[in-house]
Amino acid sequence: MTVVALVSVKGSPGVTTAATAIAASWPADRKVLLVEADPFGGDLAPRYGSAVTGGLASLSAAARRTLTPESVWEHTGELPGGLPVLFGLTNVNQAVANENAWPAIASALADLGADVVIDAGRLLPDFGGGIRHLLARADTVAVLFAPTLESIVHLRDILLSLAAEVRDRRLVVVPTATAGYSAAEIGGTLSVSVGPAMPDDPHAAAALANRRSVRRLERTRLLRWAADFVSGLELAPAPDAQTPSGETATEQGEGDAARDRRVTDPEGLAEAQAVAPAPVGASVEVGR
Ligand SMILES: Nc1ncnc2c1ncn2[C@@H]1O[C@H](COP(=O)(O)OP(=O)(O)OP(=O)(O)O)[C@@H](O)[C@H]1O
Ligand SMILES: [Mg+2]
Repeated sequence: MTVVALVSVKGSPGVTTAATAIAASWPADRKVLLVEADPFGGDLAPRYGSAVTGGLASLSAAARRTLTPESVWEHTGELPGGLPVLFGLTNVNQAVANENAWPAIASALADLGADVVIDAGRLLPDFGGGIRHLLARADTVAVLFAPTLESIVHLRDILLSLAAEVRDRRLVVVPTATAGYSAAEIGGTLSVSVGPAMPDDPHAAAALANRRSVRRLERTRLLRWAADFVSGLELAPAPDAQTPSGETATEQGEGDAARDRRVTDPEGLAEAQAVAPAPVGASVEVGR
């Protein structure tokens, strides 16, 4: 199983969008969980109009007792389309207050029996808000940044300490626009591996934020970039993933057909949506 964490240093370069696109582009024969660990709070529940009944808040409470990897699924929901998601906390105070829960949560996620894509949000000083524990478990850490001079300067400032956290695992920086400094210039200046730039694709990004709908989302530049990003990961051998119902992904009949967008009515989410404010955009299906 593989854990990928996406972070930013400053601004809002598109970490949540990228994490959602990457999880949605995950190989259909592997189970994946999208985790909203941004210490500044999760955005997916408000974007999708989901009132969170579980999520990191209840998982953090559970982690004060014993936390088994399987029990993580009791706190997850799904985006319309079926992508499993662990919704985030609401704000940075909650993240700091729950900091003690993170070693147990990070360890449970690492042993989940499924791959994990983490939106670790904007880094806090000293990798606070639980992020240090997640970085310690990630196989790949990707830092998203705009390829501008000022962003590169901010990135350079944090890179040494970030590399010390990531150690022998994979650290990659990902420009969030194809214009600006080139991968060669960035890689040469920072001595770090530079991933393919996330394309500027406002329509697909808006669709992933549930602000509009886009036909054939998987064919957009953003989703094709995400699929390339996933292909570039050296995924560990597929686990015999246990679903919440105890079936393996294969038993569930997940194969290529699972790539077709599917609408599900995940337990709790339909009820949650009934009490939540209506989403701003047309409901977008984010499946795998
Ligand atoms: N590739 C992209 N092309 C165009 N617009 C994008 C792209 N990625 C993200 N956006 C837009 O940029 C805004 C910020 O994106 P997003 O919420 O993913 O950033 P973030 O880094 O997670 O921010 P924060 O740290 O505030 O959570 C959103 O309006 C989103 O739709
Ligand atoms: Mg975000």
